[in-house]
Amino acid sequence: MGRVTELGYIGFEVSDLAAWERFAVDLLGLVPGAREADRGLALRLDDRVHRMLLEQGPADDLAFIGFDCGSAASLDELRASLGAAGHTVVEGDAALAARRRVDRLAVTHDPAGNRVELYVGLACDAAPFAAPRLRSRFVTDAGGAGHAFLPTEDRAAMLGFYQAIGFRISDYIRQEVAPGMVVDAVFTHCNPRHHTLAFAALPSPKRIHHFMIEVADAVDVGQAHDRVQDAGVPLALSLGAHPNDRMFSFYAVTPSGFCLEFGAGGRLIED
Ligand code: FE2
Repeated sequence: MGRVTELGYIGFEVSDLAAWERFAVDLLGLVPGAREADRGLALRLDDRVHRMLLEQGPADDLAFIGFDCGSAASLDELRASLGAAGHTVVEGDAALAARRRVDRLAVTHDPAGNRVELYVGLACDAAPFAAPRLRSRFVTDAGGAGHAFLPTEDRAAMLGFYQAIGFRISDYIRQEVAPGMVVDAVFTHCNPRHHTLAFAALPSPKRIHHFMIEVADAVDVGQAHDRVQDAGVPLALSLGAHPNDRMFSFYAVTPSGFCLEFGAGGRLIED
């Protein structure tokens, strides 16, 4: 049975691209990719052509999540099993594949309505990668671009969908975060990163609560934290560590209103 290997790229529709570029590039140290008319602002974390894609638009929200299927055979198996489970999966045309810089992709939607792109062959950039804002590097390796925390009205349906493409449960956090408000989240993995997707029944105006990007040195977390604070960007959570993945991180509010978590030291796990 096919199984996705990583969250390879994530796309956001943003109303203020210039503000996002200052936030992501100047403050957090993401690296702009080649500027091409068909792609919006492409941001790199490693040798790949992009790990985050920002497209101009009014939504200020998650636009799509791309998952690497590892092989064309695995992509075909995932298409078949999702189809058998009643999900509509459409082969992406050549124009879309070219825009995403992948060999091939198929498009479906999860039970919360998020656009999911199952792909193979995300291109590497001809330009060598360097992140001048960091003293270390972004951590992608076998763990992919990062992790996403997705609010949902139906956690069981979301879990079922993502289990069908290969995600497995890591653990849960159940905590009263405000009087009477209990967050009950399930964390899932598809590779050694402790979680790539987390789901919780949360009231949310956005499709995504946060996306997490990891660096290899906690000093880079501290320095990014200082730059964000100096720039007056609001923090949703100040520096701290989570009990399950042990990520040392902070959460900055992006120009689109959802959060970006920036951390180091995330735990790796096995099934
Ligand atoms: Fe997180």
